[in-house]
Amino acid sequence: MKNVIVTGGAGFIGSNFIRYILNENKEIKVINVDKLTYAGNLENLKGLENNENYVFEKADICDKEKIEEIVKKYDIDTIINFAAESHVDRSIKDPTEFINTNIKGTQNLLAIAKNAWEIGEDTYKEGVRYIQVSTDEVYGSLEKDDPCFTEKTPLSPHSPYSASKASADMLVKAYYDTYKFPVCITRCSNNYGPYQFPEKFIPLIMNNCLKHKNIPVYGDGSNIRDWLFVEDHCEAIYKVTLNGRLGEVYNIGGHNERTNLQIVKKIIAYLHDNVDKEITEDLITFVKDRKGHDKRYGINPEKISKELGWSPKTKFEDGIVKTIEWYLNNQEWLDNVVSGEYENYYKKMYNQ
Ligand code: NAD
Ligand code: DAU
Repeated sequence: MKNVIVTGGAGFIGSNFIRYILNENKEIKVINVDKLTYAGNLENLKGLENNENYVFEKADICDKEKIEEIVKKYDIDTIINFAAESHVDRSIKDPTEFINTNIKGTQNLLAIAKNAWEIGEDTYKEGVRYIQVSTDEVYGSLEKDDPCFTEKTPLSPHSPYSASKASADMLVKAYYDTYKFPVCITRCSNNYGPYQFPEKFIPLIMNNCLKHKNIPVYGDGSNIRDWLFVEDHCEAIYKVTLNGRLGEVYNIGGHNERTNLQIVKKIIAYLHDNVDKEITEDLITFVKDRKGHDKRYGINPEKISKELGWSPKTKFEDGIVKTIEWYLNNQEWLDNVVSGEYENYYKKMYNQ
């Protein structure tokens, strides 16, 4: 790995990954390819502007000419595709952009990389690799006592978002099966940590608490997610990029299932005790459930643990405090991202 494209590097996980990989490996050059949608924010990469191993290229992964040009210009040997429309609620309102970016964008990257790296039939330049960053949501939903998702769990997505991610995964796998194109797919559970856009549950709770606004909890708050600290996810992706077996899927999870109500109560308790006595559970407001709301996600990460020696390092109790503290220390970042368009989004989404 020498010249790496990270798509979606101005988003939550992508920006954390760029910081992680530049710190971990001083021998590589990272080209951040991002369209800068509402979710992309160059402030997430503040401090890297003068790093000689980092370059930003504003581009849409669906743009054939521009992506071809970037792959050629930097002699790219690795592509890690984080770029996506990533919010389930937005996909329920309008799936269009999810189909464009998540499916057509992935196909565009695959076609361009195959063309650039192919040296003969089904043979490619030494060491080239395409990583698709996918999600546990492609497996659908678990009941309370079901065993966790393994890589063999059949795909059964429910939302337009997860259907688009599952479609992309199938295209990536098809490139391996048909052309022996060198790919790996990662499927991770819910991430939390610094730089997450406050449309997602944890930063939304933080933002609303700090502004003494009601916290919308869908349904009765009993839905379960398997929370993973973002830095642990970054480490897992790096390991898969280095040593993952080609054509394989790796599940990534934190062994850390919580109900939404547990999450909200935990954050409120910390803020109440340490920051502001006016932040209380009275802010919790039960609202209409998300359409097709998946009941439970839970990841079995045995494969990545056995094959690549990865396991999550951050205990939830520590990770959540780090996360809360980060938002407290970066309220200017939070205020900047919720100004303007976010207000309109929030009103439309929550009828407030
Ligand atoms: P995000 O919404 O925070 O960031 C997405 C980034 O992609 C943004 O910077 C955006 O500008 C960019 N982007 C969107 N469309 C683009 C396009 N057409 N061309 C180029 N750039 C484009 O998302 P995230 O939460 O950081 O998720 C990153 C990836 O990880 C996604 O593929 C998502 O499906 C996957 N994932 C996320 C989670 C999670 O909990 N957040 C868990 C598992 C997997
Ligand atoms: O599991 C991985 C997935 O996790 C990723 O693929 C997605 O990109 C990412 O957005 C996330 O999806 P979720 O839908 O699980 O995350 P979200 O933060 O939107 O919601 C988490 C839970 O909280 C979910 O059960 C819905 C609930 N929720 C969410 C919001 C925004 C609420 O109760 N109220 C809210 O206002």
